[in-house]
Amino acid sequence: MPLPVAAGIGLRAPHVAQVRAERPPVGWLEVHSENYFVDGGPALAALDALRATYAISLHGVGLALGSADPLDGAHLARLRRLADRIEPASVSEHLCWGHVDGRHLNDLLPLPFTDEALKLVCRRVDAVQTALGRELLVENISAYLRFACDAMTEWEFVAAVAAHTGCKLLFDVNNVYVNAVNHGFDPRAYFAAIPGQRVAEIHLAGFDDSGGCLLDTHGARVAPPVWALYREAIERFGPKPTLVEWDTDIPALEVLLDEANQAQRIMEACDAVAA
Ligand SMILES: [Fe+2]
Repeated sequence: MPLPVAAGIGLRAPHVAQVRAERPPVGWLEVHSENYFVDGGPALAALDALRATYAISLHGVGLALGSADPLDGAHLARLRRLADRIEPASVSEHLCWGHVDGRHLNDLLPLPFTDEALKLVCRRVDAVQTALGRELLVENISAYLRFACDAMTEWEFVAAVAAHTGCKLLFDVNNVYVNAVNHGFDPRAYFAAIPGQRVAEIHLAGFDDSGGCLLDTHGARVAPPVWALYREAIERFGPKPTLVEWDTDIPALEVLLDEANQAQRIMEACDAVAA
């Protein structure tokens, strides 16, 4: 079953007990896969319990899809085991790198937009989809530098990965906005390059703009210009499963649900106009 076309929330540890107890009417839940790479314990037990009520998305941060090191077979095996157990509605990862010389870096690091990097990423997306026996959603990241060797735009690279591998896209509207401001491009050029039928999920989050460069902190409400872009994305692509991420300075659950409700209202308003 795919994700419901509704707004969901990223489930983080401070909210698990409350979500379990109250089962708020939110469309679905997304969790970070690596937090559940365990054989038992309370976190996995909670996820087992919640999957009876909610569709679950497994969102990975550690696969290093764009690294030149060999794919981490143990990581893939743990992800496969978790997916077989939870039967998620989707499995996603980031278009980034994070392994080098056998070491893992806890960051989502940017790729050069070159043919070589494109071929490498596509090979690895194919390999992951084969290993999991599932379709993968890949997410565009926020990045704070660009490479002099870039041979294409970010949006050309992202669209090419989807075209060459058959994977779906997790389109992060906040990341598009952050990169558009920091690197000086028109987000609408990005939108125009993305095939809407390949967008299987949208992410929204808050950024920090305290220092002349927008930082994708996932630590605030979604900013007004990102809501405006989200509305444009829904008008262009149609309503999509939409996830509000909040990972630092995590607020009360009610605040997160309020953000998800805002996304839900925007989707419903666009649906009403289309009808
Ligand atoms: Fe995201």
